[in-house]
Amino acid sequence: MNLPLVEIHCHIEGAAPPELVERLAAKYGADLDGTIENGRYVWSDFTEFLSCYDRASSVFRSGDDYRELTLTYFRDLAAQGAIYGEVFASPDHAAAMGISYGDLVDGIAAGMDDAKTESGIEGRILMTCVRHLGPKAAVAVAQIVADNPHPMVTGFGMGGDERAFTAADFAPAFTIARDAGLGLTSHAGEFGGPQSVIDTLDHLHVTRIGHGVRSIEDPVLVERLARDGIVLEVCPRSNMELDVYDEPSDHPLAALKAAGVKVTLNSDDPPFFHTSLAEDYAFAREHSGFSETDLLACSRTAIEAAFVDEDTRAKLLKRCTPSA
Ligand code: ADE
Ligand code: ZN
Repeated sequence: MNLPLVEIHCHIEGAAPPELVERLAAKYGADLDGTIENGRYVWSDFTEFLSCYDRASSVFRSGDDYRELTLTYFRDLAAQGAIYGEVFASPDHAAAMGISYGDLVDGIAAGMDDAKTESGIEGRILMTCVRHLGPKAAVAVAQIVADNPHPMVTGFGMGGDERAFTAADFAPAFTIARDAGLGLTSHAGEFGGPQSVIDTLDHLHVTRIGHGVRSIEDPVLVERLARDGIVLEVCPRSNMELDVYDEPSDHPLAALKAAGVKVTLNSDDPPFFHTSLAEDYAFAREHSGFSETDLLACSRTAIEAAFVDEDTRAKLLKRCTPSA
């Protein structure tokens, strides 16, 4: 069987190929101001990455631009052998460029429909707030998502600078999203230590953690993650590029799995980190000792944790069985 890949942690703005960003910048006469050089995004640490990401995102100025971006990402994902993808989308980034929430959702949903028609790949959207924009902005995002239900918008998350605010500050936003029936995930344990993950679990009641790798620094937390079946959206190549770890052998993916924590593999912002979902699976094979069976288990875990209806989950799980 060809290994079916599954992605549940990718930012749609962060999936933009530099060529597409340059083309849209030319179309709109936008100054990219050193965002891209020689076909590569330019940044040197997490703070600069976030700013580079914002500048690249600023060339997406219509629902149709998001449709093209989404089709580009899902087409590439399907070509790698993926059967399902969840993308984070940021209404704050869209609004900054004058795109309404409705146009953002319709554009991404249309791109996912196009990709599904082409290859059969299934997709869902997780709307995300941006942590460093603060709790009030997060509530506004959660409220607009809750007020405008859409069948393809199935989750709510939080990205951005983990060093800003505390998880508890975002409890009101996550309560709105939870009451709207959305699946919940939040970045934590990437640039924050184990306490950031503990706070996120205690206050935001998520079933998944974006990254979560620094949980390994607290054995009691690791036990809790394993016991409660919290799923980590691990993005190994992202962690390496952002210098969370010095060497691939320092990455805790293998140790987390060995401790019984549910792990999945994801690309985060693939062109920013010179990666792809397939390369993140390859990282696990090459540096964390994952067998083909282990990699298939990651895909199954991702489907089990996906924010998707039960019918679709059952169909996708069938495609992740060893005999399929
Ligand atoms: N937004 C996009 N990528 C991110 C990351 N790796 N961490 C936090 N926020 C992000
Ligand atoms: Zn992320």
